[in-house]
Parts: sequence; C-alpha cells; structure tokens
Amino acid sequence: MQLTEVIEKRRSIRKFSDKPVSRGILEELIKAAALAPTASNLQAWRFFVADDPKLVRDIDSFSPGLSGKPPVIIAIASDLAEVERRGSKNSLVYGLMMDASMAAENLMLKAADLGLGTCAIKSYNDKAVHKLLNLPDTMRLEILISLGWPEGEPRTPKRKPMEEVLFWNAWEGQAEEAADKKPEKETDSPSTAEKALKTATLAESRNSKAEHFNKKELQDLLIYMITSAAGLPGEPQMYGPLRLIESSRRLAGMLGDAYGGAVFGELTALIDAGKGKNMTDPEGFCEMLGEAAAQATDLLSD
Ligand SMILES: Cc1cc2nc3c(=O)[nH]c(=O)nc-3n(C[C@H](O)[C@H](O)[C@H](O)COP(=O)(O)O)c2cc1C
Repeated sequence: MQLTEVIEKRRSIRKFSDKPVSRGILEELIKAAALAPTASNLQAWRFFVADDPKLVRDIDSFSPGLSGKPPVIIAIASDLAEVERRGSKNSLVYGLMMDASMAAENLMLKAADLGLGTCAIKSYNDKAVHKLLNLPDTMRLEILISLGWPEGEPRTPKRKPMEEVLFWNAWEGQAEEAADKKPEKETDSPSTAEKALKTATLAESRNSKAEHFNKKELQDLLIYMITSAAGLPGEPQMYGPLRLIESSRRLAGMLGDAYGGAVFGELTALIDAGKGKNMTDPEGFCEMLGEAAAQATDLLSD
C-alpha cells in the first residue's frame, strides 16, 4: 500500500477476531516502531509484547479503555535507567512520551499496512499493568496498543476541517475564531460492549440461588470499578456516567443470570442499546437512564 493509503486506512479498532498474530509479524511491527525518531537518538523505549492469552486477559481486566478482546497487547515503556545513564534529564520530562508516541504511530501504520487492527490505549491502571508485566521500577509505562485482526468495519471518526487546525506562519488570532465553532463530539470510545457481552456469556447458571454468582464475574466487576475510578480523574468527565452505567449493566446481567426474571433482561437490553449515546447524544443517554429507572421500579414488587 502507498503511505497515504495506509495513513487514511488506519482506524482505531475495537473488535478483533480470535485469529492469532504470528511472532514473525509481531517482530516486523516492533522493527517498524524502533525505526521511529527519538530525541538525541536515545531509543529508551522498550516494547513488551503480550501474546500469552492469560496475560492478555489479565491486562485487559485492568484496562477499562480497552475493548474488543485483542489477541495481543503491546506495552511501550521507557527505560528510565538508560536515560539516567545517558544523563538526559530533559528527555525524562519531555522526550520520552513523544518518543513512545512516534514509535506507537509507526507500529500502528505498519500494522494497518499488513491488514491488522490496533488501538492506542491510555485508560489502563498503571500500577496493575506494571505489576502484571513484572516491570522494574525503572521502567515507565507510556502507552498500550491493542492489536489483532479486525472484525467488522470500524467507524470513521470525523476530522476537524483544515481551517481549524492549519495556520500559516505567525498566529494572528485565527484560533479564537476556530474555537468559537461548535466542537466535534468525537471522543475516545472506550466501548465496553465486548466486556459486557463477556459478562453475559460467562454465566453458566440460571439457578435462582445467590451462591450461583460467578466469582470471576464479580471479581472482574470489582476490578473494573476500581480501575475506572482510578482512571477517571485524568479522563474526560463524560466517561464517568459511562463507566457507572457499564458497571450497572454488568450487575444487572449477573443478577439476571443468578435469579432470572424479565426485569434484569429488559434492563440490560435497554442499557446496551443506549449507553453509547453518552458520547453522541447526551439527551438520549439521559432518556435511557430515565427509562432504566422506571424499569427498575418493577424490582420493588418482587
Ligand atoms: C494517547 C491516546 C490514547 C487513547 N486512549 C484510548 C483508550 O483508552 N480507549 C480507546 O478506545 N481509544 C483510545 N484512543 C483512540 C482514540 O479514541 C482514537 O484515536 C480517536 O477517536 C480517533 O479515531 P481513529 O484512531 O480511528 O482515527 C487513544 C488515542 C490516543 C492517541
């Protein structure tokens, strides 16, 4: 593919097939990443490629922004010990994250060229992922990239028009004009539908006894809530209601599986259909919450 074609084709992918990605391909991707420019040619990035299914699942559990069950997760970290050795203090503050970003883009473009899908993930729990990857304290996580063969067609988020982002020569206040224009509603879409589906399909028992709650599902929900709460202070405000309703969705699914009854099923369907509106249609989202509350009043008659 021509470079322009690859650049235009790359999209954030949030749904992957089960098909594994060979280590040969993964090495090709890391080679492309390592060809990216770095400040002072420092090359302090380190690429941790998780392709062990359990490790991938575990990292996924602690990454509320990750969706689509990727077979591979690549963590890009900066080796602070190398920076220290080279005495490049400024790089620590400014350069490393940019170096990692450039490597990430190289990797994502190469992946797109090979027909693979990727998504940059910043919504992960730093300490947990650090621990799962067994990283030393001198290794700073910069970004995760989910990777795999895409399933279905991704959406194409709109880009701002050139007049809002392109300025020739010295700035003459054009930015203020641009800022007056209505901002786009495009945002990260930490669509967690896949995770919710996982919740629904994992449950094996429809027996109406509390002991049939699935411990793993409850643990996953607990971890999801903790990592969401930890991530939210640095994330857009609108993610808060999304994470809360996603937790409610999972809980409703678990209650439905354990106790049966139409209300839980209706609630999960309602939430599944409406939770994405948080990003695109806040009024519709609030309407869905109202309907869900009205639906939930049926629980009182049990
Ligand atoms: C630094 C960074 C962090 C991101 N974090 C997430 C994330 O946690 N979850 C997610 O679903 N997408 C994440 N994205 C992907 C963006 O949402 C996506 O790039 C943007 O919506 C544009 O869509 P496109 O990549 O298809 O062009 C991130 C992107 C970047 C550059």
